[in-house]
Amino acid sequence: MSHAENPTGTRRDFIYFATAGAGAVAAGAAVWPLINQMNPSADVLALASIRVDISGVEPGTQLTVLWQGKPVFIRSRTQADIDLARAVDVASLPDPLAENRNLGADAPATDENRALSEDGTWLVMMGVCTHLGCVPLGDQGDFGGWFCPCHGSHYDSAGRIRRGPAPRNLPVPVASFVDDVTIQLG
Ligand code: FES
Repeated sequence: MSHAENPTGTRRDFIYFATAGAGAVAAGAAVWPLINQMNPSADVLALASIRVDISGVEPGTQLTVLWQGKPVFIRSRTQADIDLARAVDVASLPDPLAENRNLGADAPATDENRALSEDGTWLVMMGVCTHLGCVPLGDQGDFGGWFCPCHGSHYDSAGRIRRGPAPRNLPVPVASFVDDVTIQLG
């Protein structure tokens, strides 16, 4: 099935705009314009840290939160997603670094260093392609993760670049669990 016919993959992804407590706005992973053209409003940029309720995120789906003017993917991974990511030899990756703001800059890109929860279920990362800033599509690409249609970058189920022009893994922002169903960004 082509991307045009099935832009969101077989599972629904949700976009949630974290502005002034607004609720879920739209289903579907749109191909957003380049992030630097999105011109986020001042009140969005002012939200240095936000808390996100993840209680409704089913395994195999993701919540997309707009935070500081940029999309953040919060993914509830299936065991198959986790197993796929953990079977990869880090030395074979184009970007061998975790790119995780919660760890040291030289932390290796193991799946354990990418996931937010110890069991690997939760993956939180910026939804901004490291090539030129498009928003990658979930449940797409050749590595069980995301695909950036702008110039053909494939990311795996841990958000690591596997093929295409993007130079780095999707960055993991400062994030932590407040409780079992709440993640704080920033
Ligand atoms: S912006 Fe994603 S591949 Fe170019």
